[in-house]
Amino acid sequence: MKNKNVDLLVGAQWGDEGKGKVVDLLGADVDVFVRSQGGANAGHTVIVDGQKVVFHLLPSGMLYPGKLCVLGNGLVIDPEQFLKETAELESRGQACARLAVSPHAHVVMPYHKLLDRLQEQARSKSRKIGTTGRGIGPCYVDKYTRCGLRIEDLLDADVLRERLVPLLEEKNQILTHLYNEKPLPFDEIYEPAREWGKALAPYVDDTMTLLRKAVDGGQHILLEGAQAALLDIDHGTYPYVTSSSTCAAGAFTGTGLAPNDLKRIISVVKAYTTRVGEGPMPTEDLGDDGEKLRQQGGEFGATTGRPRRCGWLDMVGLKYATALNGADTIALTKLDVLTGMGPIKVCVAYDHNGTRLDRYPTDTRVLEEVKPIYETLPGWTEDISGCRKFEELPAAAQDYVRYIERELNAPVKLVAVGPDRAQTIDRGMRD
Ligand code: IMP
Repeated sequence: MKNKNVDLLVGAQWGDEGKGKVVDLLGADVDVFVRSQGGANAGHTVIVDGQKVVFHLLPSGMLYPGKLCVLGNGLVIDPEQFLKETAELESRGQACARLAVSPHAHVVMPYHKLLDRLQEQARSKSRKIGTTGRGIGPCYVDKYTRCGLRIEDLLDADVLRERLVPLLEEKNQILTHLYNEKPLPFDEIYEPAREWGKALAPYVDDTMTLLRKAVDGGQHILLEGAQAALLDIDHGTYPYVTSSSTCAAGAFTGTGLAPNDLKRIISVVKAYTTRVGEGPMPTEDLGDDGEKLRQQGGEFGATTGRPRRCGWLDMVGLKYATALNGADTIALTKLDVLTGMGPIKVCVAYDHNGTRLDRYPTDTRVLEEVKPIYETLPGWTEDISGCRKFEELPAAAQDYVRYIERELNAPVKLVAVGPDRAQTIDRGMRD
């Protein structure tokens, strides 16, 4: 057996750390790109030669022709979105990479998306989650109550019918009785689903075995996490989280790979904090700094277009996420956005009603009440977007990177200084 060569890449904040860019950058050396959880709620933006491509469902590695891309069993797949993204890539003349879809991934059905929106509307203002409306939560509910449709169920028209009849009856009861909606006619759901099955069939494969062989053959595999640690269903800021295991551990159940298959766990950290949707965010800045970060960082959701909430780096949350993910390597993104921000603030602890908290509170309600305790570091004004070596960065920017390394006890092996693939400082990430 050859040496294992599997990298896992995960987000360290609330998503939108720029994981797509890092995946894309590592991509040239990767043989297999894999997604293991979530669905079309993700929005991975990749900019190549000035052209912007946003992936919601497909792995960001799809831009590399000829590589194998895998959608693992842990995903919830919206077939409409899947077919839209593959068609878009083809129409751009970007030959689709080889794509394999697990038969065990769950299918996001139209009623999941409808229920996602209706449930969100029904939540009181203080309990809204601010979901992406992509049907993620309701689809995972069906998975865990063991009544969900899996990709394999779409492949056989009779099986699909048999499974869908009672399912739709139940959904229609909920829609009509709980939400006063019209029932969904069977054929309107069944017929498109049958077509999806035909269109998806060529992609369906035993992904667990494919991956096993790739690992044992020493191929370079990149597991692309979607969302991020603080949105994890178990460890995140519940209930303001997504419905999958977004921390490192989720990659194993979501693919069938084993923890000892990994070589590296790369944590993607944005140089400041953002959050989209509801829930506590201790360093959210509602004043000028937050607005400036939003504008300079182009912080508008790739999936929903919503303005992201912005603020300074939160070391308490980051230390928690780093421990949770077992991260041994850091990719720091969007450092250029801090240019001209003046002195840089970093949250080093929280104040909770006069008590200093150095650790991430387990209780989300406490997190809602804390105030950040900041340390101030020097900023810089020089344009750093053209820097390609660490030594070319202004001293204050270098110090900021070193500060993060020291506090998180892991090396920053990559620094992104602009959106383009080329705007990157590699400090050994690709060695
Ligand atoms: P859901 O995943 O659509 O159920 O949304 C649950 C929460 O996760 C909401 O606050 C979303 O804004 C957030 N969320 C889901 N996917 C992403 C993502 O890819 N980036 C950032 N936030 C996300």
